[in-house]
Amino acid sequence: MLKGKKIVLGITGSIAAYKSCLIIRQLIKKEAEVQVVITPAGKEFITPITLSALTSKPVISEFFSQRDGTWHSHVDLGLWADAMLIAPATASTIGKMANGIADNMLITTYLSMKAPVFVAPAMDLDMYAHPSTQQNLNTLQAYGNHIIEPGTGFLASKLEGKGRMEEPENIVAALERFFAQRNSLKGKKVLITAGPTYEKIDPVRFIGNYSSGKMGFALAEECAERGAEVSLVCGPVSAVMQAKHPNIHRTDVESAREMYEACLQLFPSMDSAILCAAVADFTPCDVASEKIKRTGDEMVLRLKPNPDIAASLGQLKKDNQALVGFALETSHEETNAQAKLQKKNFDFIVLNSLRDVGAGFQTETNKVTIITADAKKEYPLKSKAEVAVDIINQLEAVMR
Ligand code: PMT
Repeated sequence: MLKGKKIVLGITGSIAAYKSCLIIRQLIKKEAEVQVVITPAGKEFITPITLSALTSKPVISEFFSQRDGTWHSHVDLGLWADAMLIAPATASTIGKMANGIADNMLITTYLSMKAPVFVAPAMDLDMYAHPSTQQNLNTLQAYGNHIIEPGTGFLASKLEGKGRMEEPENIVAALERFFAQRNSLKGKKVLITAGPTYEKIDPVRFIGNYSSGKMGFALAEECAERGAEVSLVCGPVSAVMQAKHPNIHRTDVESAREMYEACLQLFPSMDSAILCAAVADFTPCDVASEKIKRTGDEMVLRLKPNPDIAASLGQLKKDNQALVGFALETSHEETNAQAKLQKKNFDFIVLNSLRDVGAGFQTETNKVTIITADAKKEYPLKSKAEVAVDIINQLEAVMR
């Protein structure tokens, strides 16, 4: 997977810098090409001579070569690389990356980088746990960088005893996994629903729910990263929710009926669909054309059922199509999810419960159980991006 891959390895001033030698050795063993860019502080911990001996390339640390004044082009490095890995990444470098403080060759290279960037933080626990470090890491993640942290799981759950850089073999494995997955959905079309639906009561009021769209957007990004063409049918979400990947084609809808119609039109040409939207089950029987006035009396709103998008797609589903649903529960979670799995003809269902802290609506995290006809797997609390990886791995397994 790493054969022929060009990796820019950024090394910063941490005691863990010695581990970058092990990273280089493993990358070279897997036939990757490695170009080291080191910060001035990094050179206090490990010598460029060691690094250039291991990589068979001169180490870059200054804007100009001290030997002959040649300019080192960070722009060229940004175009050359298939990936940039910053390991170890100190709190200071992470802060500069998050804020665009380009005062050394490593940060300018990072800012010019066209390839995916992986960051392996290394610092003591107090520095790692500090809100500013956590915020900077979240910023880097929001910019699409991959944070490689010790163990598995999500940032905040890992603050105990952490801060130490992930072991070299796991860092290299993360890169390998990334390249392996990159094209695994190439040529496939995936429909994803996300966000809430709004059911109009009158021109100013609606029935809605708390869905932010974060889980659905994370799924869309993961499928697109793996090469799929994604049709994202999206209820009313905040303007900050923007699909970043060019393979994501977004259709905005408001009501369950509009989402139903968009999905019905798209589904026949899809290889799979993931229904993550929180769709209103009911809609007002009548929509008032004027704002309903207060009268002082009780008001009764009559509702009628909305179409069930999942059940309709479940009926239309062909043998070569996969259909994935979600179950958002507040009690009798597994029993309810099992019933939905069967009733809606899903290949598998992703259960999340509002009883789990950090799971469900609006949070950056989710805690899910993936249930198939004959098995179930519970996952720990993770970022929604990481949950999306687990779900899409399962999707690929059923699509095979
Ligand atoms: O958007 P976030 O803030 O990130 O929150 C994510 C989430 C909590 C919305 C998401 O993880 C989730 O659980 N989505 C499904 C919510 C839901 O409506 O669950 P449900 O158990 O009511 O529905 C079961 C399934 O049928 C779902 O796949 C749903 O999309 C689908 N459905 C439901 C009703 C309907 N009329 N049509 C449908 O397709």
